[in-house]
Amino acid sequence: MRVLVLTGAGVSAESGIPTFRGKDGYWRNLDPTKLATPEAFARDPQLVWDWYRERRQRIRNARPNAAHEAIARLAHQTEEFLLVTQNVDDLHARVGVAAEKMVQIHGDIFVTRCSRCEFERHEYEQEHEHGLPRCPDCHALLRPSVVWFGEQLSRNELERVEDFLGGGPCEIVIVAGTTATFGYIIDWALRASRDGAQLIEVNPEETPLSRFATQQVREPAAIALPRIVDEVITLG
Ligand code: OAD
Repeated sequence: MRVLVLTGAGVSAESGIPTFRGKDGYWRNLDPTKLATPEAFARDPQLVWDWYRERRQRIRNARPNAAHEAIARLAHQTEEFLLVTQNVDDLHARVGVAAEKMVQIHGDIFVTRCSRCEFERHEYEQEHEHGLPRCPDCHALLRPSVVWFGEQLSRNELERVEDFLGGGPCEIVIVAGTTATFGYIIDWALRASRDGAQLIEVNPEETPLSRFATQQVREPAAIALPRIVDEVITLG
C-alpha cells in the first residue's frame, strides 16, 4: 500500500504546542504569522530569537501524543510511505518515524544556521544564551533554520516530495491538523490522491481542502488518528 500523510500544527496541539493561527497562537500579544518572517528578523532579531528559544524550550518539554504515535505505526506498517510535515518540532521523529520516511518541509527548529554563509549546527542542548548568536565563521547573525513566509522551500526536500509523488498514486492520503493555507499542501494532497485514493482530512474545523476530502473527520487528531490508522492497517 502507498500512503502519504501531511501534517500541520494541529497534530502537536495536544502536546501543548500552540498552533500558528487562532487566538491560542498569540505570543506576547504578537501574531506568530508576522514573527515568522524575514522582515521581523531584520527589524528585531532579538524578539524573533526570544520567540524561537521559548518555542524550542516548550518543544523539549513536550511529549508526543497519540496522533504522532499512530502516524509512526502507519509508517512502520506501510511499505511505501511518506510523511510531509509543516511542523518544525521533533515530535514525529521522537516516536520513531525514520528520517527517510519524513520530510520537514518548513525546516527544523533545532537547527541554527548562518544568515549569510553555509554554517549550521544542531542545538540539542538547552540554551543558556539570551543575546544574538553570531556565526563563528563569518560573524553574520545566526538564525533558526526554518522556512519563513516569503522564503523558498528547500530544493532538496521538495525533490523528495516530488520523487514520492512521481512514484505512483497512493491508496490513502491523510491530511491532519493543518489550515492548508499553502497551495502546495493542497496540490500534493490532490496529486497523491489523483487515482481515486481515499483523501481523509482530520481537523475539527473546515479548511480549503475539505471540499476535496472523501472523508472529513471533525475530531482532534489524537482521538481520530489511532482509529483511522487501525482501519487503514486492517484494509492493507
Ligand atoms: P495553523 O496554526 O495554521 O493551523 C492549525 C490547524 O490545526 C487548524 O486548521 C486547526 O483547526 C487544526 N487543529 C487545532 N487543534 C487540532 C487538533 N487537536 N487536532 C487536529 N487539528 C487541530 O498551522 P499549520 O496549518 O500547520 O509555517 O500552519 C502552516 C504553516 O504556517 C506553519 O508550518 C508555519 C505557519 O506560519 C511557517 O512558519 C513557514
